[in-house]
Amino acid sequence: MYFEKSKGFPADFLWGSASAAYQVEGAWNEDGKGMSNWDKFVRIPGKTFQGTTGDKAVDHYHRYKEDVKLMAQMGLKTYRFSISWPRVIPDGNGAINEKGLKFYDDLINELIANNIVPMVTVYHWDMPQALEEQYHGWENRQIVDDFVRYATTLFEHFGDRVKHWIIMNEQNVFTGLGWQAGMHPPGKVDDDKTFYQVNHHVFLAHAKSVLALKKLYPDALVGSSFAYSPSYAYDRHPENAMAKADYDDLKNYYWMDMYAYGRYPRAAIAYLESQGIAPQMEPGDAEILKEAAAKVDFMGVNYYQTTVVEYNPIDGVGTSHEMNTTGKKGTAKVQGVPGLYKNPSNEFLPTTDWDWTIDPMGIRMCCREITSRYDLPIVISENGLGAFDKFEDGKIHDPYRIDYLKRHIEELKKACDDGCRVLAYCTWSYTDLLSWLNGYQKRYGFVYVDREEDENSGTLNRYKKDSFDWYKHVIETNGEEL
Ligand code: BG6
Repeated sequence: MYFEKSKGFPADFLWGSASAAYQVEGAWNEDGKGMSNWDKFVRIPGKTFQGTTGDKAVDHYHRYKEDVKLMAQMGLKTYRFSISWPRVIPDGNGAINEKGLKFYDDLINELIANNIVPMVTVYHWDMPQALEEQYHGWENRQIVDDFVRYATTLFEHFGDRVKHWIIMNEQNVFTGLGWQAGMHPPGKVDDDKTFYQVNHHVFLAHAKSVLALKKLYPDALVGSSFAYSPSYAYDRHPENAMAKADYDDLKNYYWMDMYAYGRYPRAAIAYLESQGIAPQMEPGDAEILKEAAAKVDFMGVNYYQTTVVEYNPIDGVGTSHEMNTTGKKGTAKVQGVPGLYKNPSNEFLPTTDWDWTIDPMGIRMCCREITSRYDLPIVISENGLGAFDKFEDGKIHDPYRIDYLKRHIEELKKACDDGCRVLAYCTWSYTDLLSWLNGYQKRYGFVYVDREEDENSGTLNRYKKDSFDWYKHVIETNGEEL
């Protein structure tokens, strides 16, 4: 749609930036923190780029005051960060670690003192390793109760100061990479049956946590963040249009329908049943999932790229067990589900050095689709460009990042004009941080951190990139001057 004049962003729009505990905190074994599944996984040779770990990460645990000070200088309205489950409950279901709670108390208080709204992610992938050892973590339904106890501990402790809660970060990504692609813990390959069962447990944990939060704080705002790649059919061939419908049901609506409606897409379940891999549900699950869905306040969206969908013959490509983790353009592989769809690249769009498609209009597509299908408000909880940055005489010139963000914000503004209710926009990320599989060379931040892959490299000092002042101005003008 075209509008003569843009209405712009709402006056109370939350301009933000995001991070995750494992990627920034470091202090992996300090102050009583337990070991996480990631602390264990990164120690398996060959799993991460040049063996990088989050042991020290960017030392946010010790430098959070300096980081919040920079956020305040920028005028950031919200900071989205995650809480590390093993820092708060070291063995996952035993004693609470008071020192762990204190770190987040201090961080939240520091943010509020600087007029920055804390937006808390309950689970951004770091699970207590003890639960893996006790009962194989997410594979066992027992985790639902342990998760809800952990989440409730956070709601009770921080709920007086935190209003914005994201329960799960990218459930589709951590389960897909964990049980199909084998690239995240627990590193299982092509285990589709467990993948869908694990997802069912995660959905229940999400739903029961939503209900627990709303019981304590009915005015809290809650949702989960979905890694959403809107799809384009390869062309007008009906086979490709049907492949797109299959893709959407299995790769997009499967998660978003559950968060928003509390049910699985019928065609997806019919397909999974035909393959003998549908999740096992217990009596009462459907009701809980529905009840929670009615209480969800927004759809969280992490938007990075769109996907092309083409019909994939029964002897076609399957799940890829590798990806471009080096930044050498052109090394990513086409993948898909035989008999349904595959995802070739889009010749109309450029890509990053890590082969991620750059498609600003896709962010508007996300918002439009969510608005039409669910009529929910939207929190863009991540969007950003991973790139090699050059540090020269204390300066980092990153016009490519400014251009990327500018073009996405322009499209987001159009989504607001279209009537989509967008509450917040968080860039990924605030400071540079550890990219799970791509090390420290793939940088996303407004703030450069002096460190490389080697744990002993760099001073960890912070430097503002050019994009820092640019985003400051975007915030000052509420997105009017980009
Ligand atoms: C999202 C995650 O998948 O994308 C983040 O929520 C992640 O944790 C970000 O870092 C960027 O991905 P990557 O692989 O470039 O680090």
